[in-house]
Amino acid sequence: MLNQETIINALKSVKYPGYSRDIVSFGIIKNVAANNGAVSLSIELTSANKDVAAQLKQDCEQTLRALPEVKGVYVEVKMPTGQQTAPVGQNAFATQNRVPGLARIIAVASGKGGVGKSTCSVNLACALKHLGAKVGLLDCDIYGPSIPLMMGIKQRPTISPEEKMIPPANHGVKLMSMGFLLDGDQPVIWRGPMITKTIQQFFQAVEWGHLDYLLVDLPPGTGDAQLSLCQTVPLDGGIIVTTPQEASLGVVRKGIAMFEKVNVPILGIIENMSYFTTPNGERVEIFGHGGGRKEAERIKIPFLGEVPIFTEIREGGDRGVPVVVSSPDQPAGRAFLKVAEAVKARFS
Ligand SMILES: Nc1ncnc2c1ncn2[C@@H]1O[C@H](COP(=O)(O)OP(=O)(O)OP(=O)(O)O)[C@@H](O)[C@H]1O
Ligand SMILES: [Mg+2]
Repeated sequence: MLNQETIINALKSVKYPGYSRDIVSFGIIKNVAANNGAVSLSIELTSANKDVAAQLKQDCEQTLRALPEVKGVYVEVKMPTGQQTAPVGQNAFATQNRVPGLARIIAVASGKGGVGKSTCSVNLACALKHLGAKVGLLDCDIYGPSIPLMMGIKQRPTISPEEKMIPPANHGVKLMSMGFLLDGDQPVIWRGPMITKTIQQFFQAVEWGHLDYLLVDLPPGTGDAQLSLCQTVPLDGGIIVTTPQEASLGVVRKGIAMFEKVNVPILGIIENMSYFTTPNGERVEIFGHGGGRKEAERIKIPFLGEVPIFTEIREGGDRGVPVVVSSPDQPAGRAFLKVAEAVKARFS
């Protein structure tokens, strides 16, 4: 019988070029499917090496064609980081593990807390909406879910006749949050399996409808909790938010390593709190502006833009009206719109 198992078993005989280990044990085989003798799979490489890619494609095709019942083989090789790689989100076979209706699921991560990750998630969501997309936000911050406040959403999800959760929305953006599942302000100690189950519910039991983008706000850091979240959510891409001074400390690298471990393509870096503009227009570079862009160039991943420090950004967050919504044509709002355009461009 030709099925996922027989295909994977056959692929165990294919070695990663230059290694004695097989490609299955490397964990790079994804989306294996068989239908009427047609086999498809994707290989997700963690480094962009064209020779390795070509070799792997050839070896896999050859091995699979030799199997009984196989009539056709389609092997797609994806290489993640760097602008020189194929655009993300264009894998025709990625649709298999997809959540119906959710076109692109993007995680927003940061190496450290307090760098403005949630602020960026919220404003980016509203900016994508402003640009005409259908957008949702998923607040997975188990430590301090702050997105409901920043989005000005006080109501919790309602339940549909089909017993699905209907996410509340504001500013045209739908939202689900860990915060909706907590009682009051009591901190909750989440156990690993509980987190995984809850996150799965966010996909299976929530009526998102059709969304062009679902942005996922991860908890700060790049440890095991964040990693397992990345594994639970079917991500199409990851964004890393950094401050200029943090960028130089290798924290960005850790974020990238986290996404690479779970084969999530990196969309790029946002440098937040880039610089401060005084009321008379003078630029003050508190944290030494440009660290994010420099680091992005150094490690060859796209730079999505910089967001200066603006009092309006913090005020907007506190008021529940993101600055992109209240003043899209002011510098602060424009900065986020530029980032949103850069993100959109990564998918075109
Ligand atoms: N560009 C900015 N200009 C002014 N204030 C900002 C900016 N970015 C973030 N802030 C403010 O900094 C604080 C921290 O931001 P935020 O909560 O978004 O960070 P975070 O990385 O999500 O933090 P946590 O690690 O707690 O989740 C908030 O009060 C926010 O309003
Ligand atoms: Mg946050």
